[in-house]
Amino acid sequence: MSRIHDALKRAEQERATSMGTHFEPAFDQPQLQNDGPLESMPSLQPSGATAIPAMASGFNYESLLARCPQAEWTPDPLTMLFFQEDDSRIGAEEFRTLRSRLYQIREKMQLKRLMVTSALPKEGKSFVAANLAQVMVRQHGRRALVIDADLRNPGMHRHLGAAQSPGLTDYLLGECDEFAALQRGPMENLFFMPAGKIAGSAPELLSNGRLKLLLQRVEPLFDWIIIDTSPVIPVSDATLIASSCDGILLVVRSNVTPSDLARRARAEFPDKLLLGVVLNGTPSGKLAQSKYYYGAAVNSQV
Ligand SMILES: Nc1ncnc2c1ncn2[C@@H]1O[C@H](COP(=O)(O)OP(=O)(O)OP(=O)(O)O)[C@@H](O)[C@H]1O
Ligand SMILES: [Mg+2]
Repeated sequence: MSRIHDALKRAEQERATSMGTHFEPAFDQPQLQNDGPLESMPSLQPSGATAIPAMASGFNYESLLARCPQAEWTPDPLTMLFFQEDDSRIGAEEFRTLRSRLYQIREKMQLKRLMVTSALPKEGKSFVAANLAQVMVRQHGRRALVIDADLRNPGMHRHLGAAQSPGLTDYLLGECDEFAALQRGPMENLFFMPAGKIAGSAPELLSNGRLKLLLQRVEPLFDWIIIDTSPVIPVSDATLIASSCDGILLVVRSNVTPSDLARRARAEFPDKLLLGVVLNGTPSGKLAQSKYYYGAAVNSQV
């Protein structure tokens, strides 16, 4: 029985007592390469997209990223934990712990493209993905990209208070290049690719080859690429995206996610991709009490 099964079981047992979010790793992961922050640049050139020059000595990433539009964001102050100076927001420490765990994993395997998913809607995928990206860039010099790949029900732009398009769909349709689909917000080194306009069939768009190309092209520019997805049980989109990722975090909402559905979601992915479970939860009936909610909700016991 894998550790992820143990983690799901433990999550189930904790329903009665804990409403917290904590991370349960699911290794042993295979030993792969330990990547540095910036690797050599692929020289792929999609049709309709601006070419990124091949890596050369003295290559200026800043000038490339300067092509991303500077955007006005109004992040949700209740759920986005790192936009204010206050480092002691309830819940922030638990995201730092999750960050440490991910760096530990990265010592053992290639890990940059991180997918965040869950069995069902409203379990906190976007909440976890957005805050994780923020806590990553709180470390000096780290650059993160968060991509909203939930093309059916995009929500990340609402958490960040950002525009929904142009974004991933527009890129997948070949209607813009990657820089036009990216936004640079008010937090240094945090970049966002929203879902874009709602158009076409999500599975067809996600499997047309351009998502892989996009990730290859932007990968050298970032230390972390965090991909928010649709829930696993109702639709197949997350499984399509998983094949382009290095690792997956499965969000389980305490007191909400039926354990059999969490297990079914987990079974959709190969063991080697499953990094762990993020238990996210709230005391029932306490949703309006945000302080208590966070205090309990992001309670890391890594
Ligand atoms: N730990 C938490 N603390 C505070 N609010 C949370 C927490 N987890 C989730 N929420 C809130 O619960 C709601 C659903 O969360 P979120 O949008 O992250 O879920 P989701 O899994 O991405 O949903 P969807 O499947 O619709 O995309 C949001 O209003 C979010 O702000
Ligand atoms: Mg979401």
